[in-house]
Amino acid sequence: MCGIVGYTGKDLALPIILGALERLEYRGYDSAGVALIEDGKLIIEKKAGKLRELVKALWGKNYKAKIGIGHTRWATHGSPTDQNAHPHTDQKRQFAVVHNGIIENYIELREELKREGVSFYSDTDTEVIAHLIARNYEGDLLDAVQRTIQKLKGAFAFAVITVHEPERIVCAKSGSPLIVGLGEGENFLASDIPAILPYTRKVIVLDDGEIADITPEGVNVYNFSGEPVSKDVMITPWNIVSAEKSGFKHFMLKEIYEQPKALNDTIKGFFSTEGTIPFSLKDFRRVLIVACGTSYHAGLVGKYWIERFANVPVEVVYASEFRYGHFPVGEKDLVIGISQSGETIDTKFALQSAKERGAFTVGLVNVVGSAIDRESDFTLYTHAGPEIGVAATKTFSAQLAVLYALGARESKEREELYALLRGVPALVESALELSEGVEKVADKYTKAKDFLYLGRYLSYPIALEGALKLKEISYIHAEGYPAGEMKHGPIALIDESMPVMLVAPKDRVYEKMLSNLEEILARKGKVISVGFVNDDVLKKKSRDFMPVPEVHETLTPFVTIIPLQLFAYHIASKLGLDVDQPRNLAKTVTVE
Ligand code: F6R
Repeated sequence: MCGIVGYTGKDLALPIILGALERLEYRGYDSAGVALIEDGKLIIEKKAGKLRELVKALWGKNYKAKIGIGHTRWATHGSPTDQNAHPHTDQKRQFAVVHNGIIENYIELREELKREGVSFYSDTDTEVIAHLIARNYEGDLLDAVQRTIQKLKGAFAFAVITVHEPERIVCAKSGSPLIVGLGEGENFLASDIPAILPYTRKVIVLDDGEIADITPEGVNVYNFSGEPVSKDVMITPWNIVSAEKSGFKHFMLKEIYEQPKALNDTIKGFFSTEGTIPFSLKDFRRVLIVACGTSYHAGLVGKYWIERFANVPVEVVYASEFRYGHFPVGEKDLVIGISQSGETIDTKFALQSAKERGAFTVGLVNVVGSAIDRESDFTLYTHAGPEIGVAATKTFSAQLAVLYALGARESKEREELYALLRGVPALVESALELSEGVEKVADKYTKAKDFLYLGRYLSYPIALEGALKLKEISYIHAEGYPAGEMKHGPIALIDESMPVMLVAPKDRVYEKMLSNLEEILARKGKVISVGFVNDDVLKKKSRDFMPVPEVHETLTPFVTIIPLQLFAYHIASKLGLDVDQPRNLAKTVTVE
């Protein structure tokens, strides 16, 4: 988590760094800071709170520096205070460091440094890096970083500047993401591509164990042993419009409305590369899907599709549980890791462990060049563009599209299923149009304390996902449950104060859902339902009804998720909450 950025070049560094931090703020927003070098001196400005607090503190200060580094923090070691905010410096304030990751042996290093007379001003693990680099410095920053790295254990991406070499930034990567952006007479580094999109689309993706030495004139990459490494320059297909709000109040709302495009691009992308997929699901005894959060929910939907279309058994496991569990996995298994960011550490480790045990691993990611992309035996991509809102929306739909296509590819009815999939972007467009009334429905429920979300079959994971969306951005407790399990416990929760969201499109379990609805009404629960637009029965029986277009029974998840995303969005927005940056969360979760 945390976002880091760096600039060295011909223009003023501060506005470039602040702009880049704004686009990286989704990675963490507990505090923010910058370090600049001006007239041979290090300037550090940092503030607890969101980036806007730092911007306020910088008001009227016209720094002329043309080099700098910046940081936006998701606190791990040390509470989110001004003092613990990055950048961190050595005692003489000649070196400044920004860091994303965790230095696992920092206590040991701290004690060692203390014994040598160093005094610490923060509770962070990062501060040790600044002191170590200062102690290892003998006139060459690259050399000092190389020597420092030998002492560090854990996952890190960090960048350092020094007053002794005022045009140079050195950064290193082991575990946490880091890219370098190439400009004309200026160069950049960042945790993620959107940060640098206004300036360049030429990107070098650093691998673990690499160091980049960056000046305005050029970039050289080395491995941790100091040998030069030749790197490919990638031209990212993303552009700055996709990383801006474009008139929407929040990124989340923009991204909900971008779903038809995200689906269209993803479906086209799948068909254009389908011929390169080097396996058939049927070659394996089992498909195992590992993922976290929303990506896990996409995996649960994918299970129904793959089992139905390809007749191959699928298990879906939380990546964090897989890693420390005892799942028998081996050569006969195909393991798919689903991850929007491609950096989620639990999913990455789960895939690594499956690979070590002989399984064939496939990443399904939105970020080209991400760790899971690079480490999997094969990668499938969603082409949803950068997702900035912390709550995943368009990438979920795009993941669904790939999983549907992957299953359909193995079916005797492949062409019919592919044709259905091609029609999905238009169906989602009409689901968005039909969802105009969702805001009014949301209005009635802003004071609710708990929600129950129920669904069966393909709508069960959609109920889980709808509940997750609501809780993460509105902080209202919501529980997703398989509707058939209601009578085994949750029904006890239902009374006149409990809103129950029923996801009930007309599919093979529709009649069962109507029975559940009656059971809820008999206990005076307030039913809000999501159903096909012409379903007068459901509409009449529900207190509130959110319509979706009528679709083929295999396509329901693509449309039923739309009103649920919007419902969560409008509740959080009406409560005045920070929809794009909900408390305690970060978009990319690189800690276990
Ligand atoms: C919820 C959400 C998270 C992520 C989870 C996995 O809206 O965004 O639950 O889905 O942290 O992230 P990725 O997909 O990047 O592995």
